[in-house]
Amino acid sequence: MSVEMKRRSAEAALAHVEPGMKLGLGTGSTADEFVKLLGARVAAGLDVVGVPTSERTAALAGSLGIRLETLDTLPELDLTIDGADEIGPGLVLVKGGGGALLREKIVAAASARMIVIADKSKVVETVGAFPLPIEVVPFGLGSTRLKIERIAADLGLAGPLALRQGRDGAPYLTDGGHYILDASFRRIPDPKALAEALATIPGVVEHGLFIGLATAAVVAGLDQIETLHP
Ligand code: A5P
Repeated sequence: MSVEMKRRSAEAALAHVEPGMKLGLGTGSTADEFVKLLGARVAAGLDVVGVPTSERTAALAGSLGIRLETLDTLPELDLTIDGADEIGPGLVLVKGGGGALLREKIVAAASARMIVIADKSKVVETVGAFPLPIEVVPFGLGSTRLKIERIAADLGLAGPLALRQGRDGAPYLTDGGHYILDASFRRIPDPKALAEALATIPGVVEHGLFIGLATAAVVAGLDQIETLHP
C-alpha cells in the first residue's frame, strides 16, 4: 500500500480522537502514519495521552512529544488505533507481522474501542494467507512447535511453522523476549476454534488472531474510504 493510502486511513481515524482521550498507539507502518499525524495535532495543542504497543512506537511517539503512560497508570483506554495484516469477516484480524502482537492485544483488550487502519488489500474473505504469527516462549520450542502442529492437524490445518529470524541471523526476539513462529496455514476457516486450541498450549504466549476486539476498520481504497463494522 502506498504511504498516501496509509496516511488517508490514518487521517480518517484521527477524526475519532477527542481532547482528553487515553489512546492505545499501534505498531507498524500504517500505525506510524497515525502517530505522526497525532504528533502534529499534539504540537498544535491537542491534549491526549498514549500507551504504545511497542518500544518502536514508544520511540516514535516520544520523539513527537506525545505524552506516554503505561497500562499500570492507565489500565483502561478510550480508543486504540492500530494496523492489521489481514481483516476478515466480523473484523477478525491477523496481526503481528511487525512482531508486536502481544502488547497490541493487551492494549486493544484494555480499550473501549479499537479502530483498525488499513488499505483495501488487507480485507480478505478467509484469513490465513498471511502467515499467522504465534508468539512462543524460547524454552521448550521443539515441544511447543509439535503441539501446535498437532492441534492444527486436528482442525484440518497444515503448513510450515517458520521460526522468525532477526537481522543478525539469530531468532527474532519480541519486546517481551519471546520467539515468533509464523504459521503458513493459507486458509483458517474457523479462527475461533484455532484461537481456543492455541490457548491450551503452555508454551504459546499469544497468537495474532484478534477476535472480538476491533470495533471498526477504516479501509482506504484508491479513491474512497470505507468504514467496516463487525
Ligand atoms: C505489528 O505487530 C502488526 O500487527 C502490524 O499492525 C501489522 O503488521 C500491520 O502493519 P503495516 O501497517 O506495516 O502493514
